[in-house]
Amino acid sequence: MYSEILQALSQGELPIDAPQDAINVFDFEAAARERMSPAHYGYLATGSDNDATVHANRKGFDRFKLRPRRLTGVDAVDTSIELFGVKWKAPIALSPVGNERAFHPEGAVAVGRAAREKDALQVLSIGANFALADVHAARGGPVWFQIYPLNDWSQTRAVVKRVEATGCPVLVLTVDMEAGHNRETLERFKRLDDGDCGACHGLGCTREDKYPNIAGITAASDAAPLLWKWEFVERLKASTAMKLVIKGIVTHEDAALCVEHGVDGIIVSNHGGRAENSGRSTIECLPEVAEAVGGKIPLLIDSGFRRGTDIYKALALGADAICIGRPYLWGLASFGQQGVEAVLEILQRELELVMRQCGAPSLRAIDSSSVL
Ligand code: FNR
Repeated sequence: MYSEILQALSQGELPIDAPQDAINVFDFEAAARERMSPAHYGYLATGSDNDATVHANRKGFDRFKLRPRRLTGVDAVDTSIELFGVKWKAPIALSPVGNERAFHPEGAVAVGRAAREKDALQVLSIGANFALADVHAARGGPVWFQIYPLNDWSQTRAVVKRVEATGCPVLVLTVDMEAGHNRETLERFKRLDDGDCGACHGLGCTREDKYPNIAGITAASDAAPLLWKWEFVERLKASTAMKLVIKGIVTHEDAALCVEHGVDGIIVSNHGGRAENSGRSTIECLPEVAEAVGGKIPLLIDSGFRRGTDIYKALALGADAICIGRPYLWGLASFGQQGVEAVLEILQRELELVMRQCGAPSLRAIDSSSVL
């Protein structure tokens, strides 16, 4: 009996009543599931096909082991990092997610307030339900903005100019949704939902209401495969003074092309297992990407990060910072701003602990000798 309870507890299956009850970030998943409609939970949880890549993203971390050093006398640790001239408290950023009002009515604004409290870098999705300017205001400083390639250049340019005019310093181009996706878990959860979906998804709710950052834009991203080429990247880069970061790179060939085409940064990502069902975790992709980049541009990574040790392993394998998606959405869905803050706090605490435990006083001290 005790062993069953312990197992459920360690896997976050027993819901918590308050953010401070959480022992690890998994605890927020059960709390979120309890509070969300089945369809919205399905949207959050789903990967592609049978979710094999979602699971691979977690299992990938087991392939790398820590090499802690002893008697180093490390006490206080410095987790700060600088990206494009801006200093952050920790190498833990918030990945872009669309339709975030499905998780909490205050969506990206609540996330922005939490990011301000915890000094975290936030990336807003083109599919967000709040205007970029409002999120800058909630964050108390500029957030980054993410777009997909659109099938019309003049409208793409219009979006870029709009984003630039808000004072956004970094544009993130997500390139891993070229052919769409097959989200079976979402479809199954939708069938369990007998709620009135029409209230939000019905005719009364316009695209402009839902997606304020693309108001008036009719171009689509899913009908644009011909534009998903390096020429598009070059054109985009030439059209803006913002830094350009590409999200969704998983091979050394594409990482080298990013550098060749003057891209300013890379996010190694498989969209949290929601793009193609490759079966390969991003942490396993990281070494080849890091080698191709050779420290020339900042390297970030997401997909499956849930622990301080996951972050430590990524830093050892060449990443400058990591991003999280679902963990902060679990926090948001269960406790709003406070939930997001608690998730960031737990990851920060776990990272500091593993750094002290392994004898790394700063992120610079975490290198290839830190893992096997
Ligand atoms: C996403 N992701 C995503 N990525 C992106 O570039 N633009 C987007 O609009 C979205 N939307 C989105 C919605 C939801 C509900 C999820 C869960 C994810 C992918 C996201 O940025 C990130 O790559 C993954 O979430 C990281 O994996 P984990 O941390 O969720 O495992």
